[in-house]
Parts: sequence; C-alpha cells; structure tokens
Amino acid sequence: MELCRATAFSWTNSISPSLHIPQPFSMCETKRFRVCCLNNDSVSAQSQKVNQMTVSVTGATGFIGRRLVQRLYADDHFVRILTRSRSNAQLIFPVKDFPGIVIAEEPEWKDCIHGSNAVVNLAGMPISTRWSPEIKKEIKQSRIRVTSKVVDLINDSKDEIRPKVLVSATAVGYYGSSETQVFDEQSPSGNDYLAEVCREWETTALRVNKNVRVALIRIGVVLGKDGGALAKMIPLFMMFAGGPLGSGKQWFSWIHLDDIVNLIYEALSNPSYEGVINGTAPNPVRLSEMCEQLGSVMGRPSWLPVPELALKAVLGEGACVVLEGQRVLPSRAKELGFPFKYPYVKDALKAILS
Ligand SMILES: NC(=O)c1ccc[n+]([C@@H]2O[C@H](COP(=O)([O-])OP(=O)(O)OC[C@H]3O[C@@H](n4cnc5c(N)ncnc54)[C@H](OP(=O)(O)O)[C@@H]3O)[C@@H](O)[C@H]2O)c1
Repeated sequence: MELCRATAFSWTNSISPSLHIPQPFSMCETKRFRVCCLNNDSVSAQSQKVNQMTVSVTGATGFIGRRLVQRLYADDHFVRILTRSRSNAQLIFPVKDFPGIVIAEEPEWKDCIHGSNAVVNLAGMPISTRWSPEIKKEIKQSRIRVTSKVVDLINDSKDEIRPKVLVSATAVGYYGSSETQVFDEQSPSGNDYLAEVCREWETTALRVNKNVRVALIRIGVVLGKDGGALAKMIPLFMMFAGGPLGSGKQWFSWIHLDDIVNLIYEALSNPSYEGVINGTAPNPVRLSEMCEQLGSVMGRPSWLPVPELALKAVLGEGACVVLEGQRVLPSRAKELGFPFKYPYVKDALKAILS
C-alpha cells in the first residue's frame, strides 16, 4: 500500500508539476496501478477499488473538511482540495502524510472538478464572529460565491467528465429559532438573517445540472475535539463552573464530528441520499441539559449560569446559533437507516473530552 501511494505521488508530480493534477484519463491509469498493487493481496480488495472515487472538496481545510479528507484519503479515494490558499492547505495536508493529494487554488478548480466523480462543498466564512454589516455580507456572499463557482464549473463540464454528485453544506439555521417547534426536512424556513443565508445558499446549489444528484446537508452544531463551538465554549464552562446559558430552555441541535463526516461520506456514494438531509443527532437537547452533561463529563457542577454577554464575547453575534436554537430532527437520515455513532450528547461529550 505504501508503495502505491508513493508511486501515485511521484507520478502525479512528474506529469503535472504546476498543478499536481493528473488529466482525467491518466487518473484512470493511476487507479489501475493502485488496483494492481492491491490485486496481489486479495480479490475483495479489488472489488472495493471499483468504488474508488475522485472527490473535490471546498472548505477542506476547515473543521469538518479536514476530518472528511482524512477519512476519504484513508479509504484510498483520490482527494482534490479546492482552497483559497495553497500554502495553508499544504500545512494542513503535508505531502509526507498525504502523498498524491491534489491542492488547487481557484484558477485551477475547473481542472479538478472536471473529471471528479463527486464534489463536496463546505466553504464559507465562519459565523462565530462579531457581526458588522460588512461581515454579515461576507458570511452570506462567501457561501454564495463559492457555491456558484462550483455549480458553474460542474454545469460547464462535458457530460463524460461531469461529477455525478454534489454534497453541499447548509445549516439548521434554515429553520429560524424556536423554543417550542420541532423541525424536520419538510418544515418551512425561518425569517431571520441566518435563515435567509441558508435559503440562498441552498438555492444556489440547486442550480446544478439536473443529471447531478444533490444532497443538501443542513448541519447542526458540530461537536468535536479541535474546533467548532465546543472548543470555544469549554473555557467559559471552566470559568463559570458550567451552568446553563441564558434561560437554558433553548434547543441545541448538535451532531458529533464523526457522524457528520460519515453522513457526508455516505451521501457521496449512496444514491438514496438526495435532497435535503438534516445533519443533526436524533436526540437534540435543551441548553440546560447540554450544560449539565458537559458539567458532568468535565467533573464540574452545573450551577452558575454563564452570562450571555460572556458567550457573545467569545462567539460574537454568531453565538445566536447557541443562544437561540431550534429543535431539529434528522428524519431523512433515520428513514435512510443512517447509523449514528453518537445518538446521545453525553456519549458524544465523553468521547470528545476523554
Ligand atoms: N461546524 C459547525 O458546527 C457547522 C454547523 C452548521 C453549518 N456548518 C457549515 O458547514 C461548513 C463547514 O463547516 P466548518 O465548521 O468545517 O467550517 P470552517 O472550519 O469555518 O471552514 C470553512 C472553510 O471555508 C473556507 N473559507 C473561510 N472563509 C472563507 C471566505 N471568506 N470565502 C471563501 N471560503 C472561505 C476556508 O477554506 P480555505 O481557506 O481552504 O479556502 C475554511 O477552511 C461551513 O460552510 C459551515 O457554515 C458548520
């Protein structure tokens, strides 16, 4: 296996030193070579290779993207990182750990997307910031701009090299916030700023060629070790001994990082994953429960309320995703039989913080 990767890397670089992108036909050659290596080992390995994909990923350098790329790479798929900054992406995906991975800045995205089997679109300016009017504009525009570009490139490609599937991120902010309503994929959109962002983001993705399967993943608050809201919230819990945030009645629709990555991964290859799919755990909790569980996992009592002001100081107005939540159920994922690894927040937190 090591031999395969090393060979794929040197081959890739020698053919296309500027972009590090092999041409579509040549990519097949590389695949065949990899299959060759595995043929020596077992027939079952060969049948697995039939499903080998070439996946282009925007936002690959982010919290979710990094883990997704690691997962795809570990399963021997070809990954093309579509980024704004090659040098930053090279630090995150160093050649010694990811030989053969393709890293492309915007002018090279076309060559990556044409010939990929699938595209995952995760890019967007982080929302956990202070929201000046300019930043709010960029939060929306960054998502529309990248999604538009990806969709145009997919649509402009010839049929034979057009990706077959687009998995595009959106967020549970689509539904607006409520302490009483329950939302699933059929629910209407809300009428606040984030709902508007999500609607436009989704509409842009849906402009893709009708022959391309689209999965729109409405992602909840992703819980993981090295990033996301939790990493920012934990110091506050330490400081305030982990009590509820505000009234504590707000709903918190969360998902463990492993589960959102698995869901995106499944959506790439399973044709049943089409349309809107909520990327949230089956058991959302009220913030008071989330805080209680966090306090218990961290071995700290949950009794002092964390002031909203303190949370806003850390998360900016983007704290509204935590302070004004919504109760979202993953009805489609359940229908599809998606196996959640972490259905309960306590287990998710234990896994993350242990
Ligand atoms: N994490 C969550 O809890 C959560 C919840 C709901 C929805 N989502 C959505 O899921 C997607 C991935 O989430 P994440 O947490 O992995 O995001 P992230 O860590 O903030 O990473 C997003 C990526 O987008 C690119 N990006 C950043 N600013 C940009 C800008 N101004 N214009 C264009 N691209 C920009 C960056 O990639 P390059 O620098 O390589 O270009 C960055 O690595 C995001 O769109 C996010 O809104 C996430």
